[in-house]
Amino acid sequence: MPELSRRAASLGTENAFVVLAEVNELARAGRDIVSFCIGQPDFPAPVNVQDAAIRAVREGKHGYTPSAGIDPLREAAAKYMGAMRGGLPIRPQDVVIGAGAKPFIAYAILSTTDYGAGDEVIYPNPGFPIYQSQIVACGAVPVPIHLHEARDFAFDPKDLEKLLTPKTRLVILNYPHNPTGGLLGRRDLETIAAILRRHPRVWVYADEIYSRLCYAGDFFSIAQLPGMYERTILSDGASKTWAMTGWRIGFASSPALAPVFTRWVTNTDSCASQISQWAAVEAINGPQDAAEAMRASFLSRRDLIVGLLNEVPGVTCRLPGGAFYAWPNVTEACRMVGAADSEEFRKRLLHEAGVAVLADIHFGARVPGEGQHVRFSYAASKQAIEGGVERMAQFIREGAQRA
Ligand SMILES: Cc1ncc(COP(=O)(O)O)c(C=O)c1O
Repeated sequence: MPELSRRAASLGTENAFVVLAEVNELARAGRDIVSFCIGQPDFPAPVNVQDAAIRAVREGKHGYTPSAGIDPLREAAAKYMGAMRGGLPIRPQDVVIGAGAKPFIAYAILSTTDYGAGDEVIYPNPGFPIYQSQIVACGAVPVPIHLHEARDFAFDPKDLEKLLTPKTRLVILNYPHNPTGGLLGRRDLETIAAILRRHPRVWVYADEIYSRLCYAGDFFSIAQLPGMYERTILSDGASKTWAMTGWRIGFASSPALAPVFTRWVTNTDSCASQISQWAAVEAINGPQDAAEAMRASFLSRRDLIVGLLNEVPGVTCRLPGGAFYAWPNVTEACRMVGAADSEEFRKRLLHEAGVAVLADIHFGARVPGEGQHVRFSYAASKQAIEGGVERMAQFIREGAQRA
């Protein structure tokens, strides 16, 4: 059998998909599982968006499009992204449409680092697992920056200062953050920008896919700070805001890199689905009631789950500022049930109590001194949240008695 490349052999994954397969297998075997695994809205895409897609099909709008996307969507996305970010002067030609926001992670790394040259990319840990996986696959050097519970899961800008070297090419930021729901507030972003101004060769990738799910005041982007817009790749999309994960529409903006990203799209997907692009035009330009209702629902479910988790023995949970994730500290709960770590805790919680969550190690190496965490995606019904957290409390109470 011919050999695989080292790159392919070392390629990471999103463990959410692996755990989900485990959950589905248990469900098929008849187990009753309450799942908090999957990071996607539990709503259908808005009806006006569905209608726009059907119209596009009926009107024959289903061939290839330009790789950068159809003009109406680039225009809509430019206007939308700019308005969401304090009136940034984003032009349609600065925006590239992708098959989701995810491909832009690879395009950004591929466009700013060279394979095997020792080029470094700083990324949040814990963090979206694709950052580290793609940095390694692209032949760059992954440099994790640790997030801290005491800072509501922001990193300490002083750590950034220490990690930046002459080899640093790219800094990945993500706010609101997956998996912790943490934010980088305006003050932190100002400090980060001040540090980065002393490193003009470094690009910034601002993963702002959860920008509309920000509960602690108006969303603020690092690109709004002086000198940052030109060197920041802004990434956003339709998946989380309009419950369109499977439609695969993301938008990235960068005046300098848009032509490069366009070439990457030509080399990979050719273009995002034309049908989904027309639907995304409607998502952005049409009524926003459904998006606003989803946001309000996530906010009330955040308050519900965080309140309930903080009543569970051995569990403490910070109030996440955005997205739809809670990241409770289960260090004491692990001790109570005799679990060696969060991963053993997660497995036992799934098999013994039928509650599916992800463990911190699915989002990078555990941060020393920060204890054990698991991730709940609270894009689940109120009933699932109440029932699932109660099962977890019961599991810990019984486990503590047995241990
Ligand atoms: C932090 C982060 N970035 C990017 C993405 C990718 O989103 P999309 O569906 O637009 O590819 C996700 C999806 O879970 C995410 O959590």
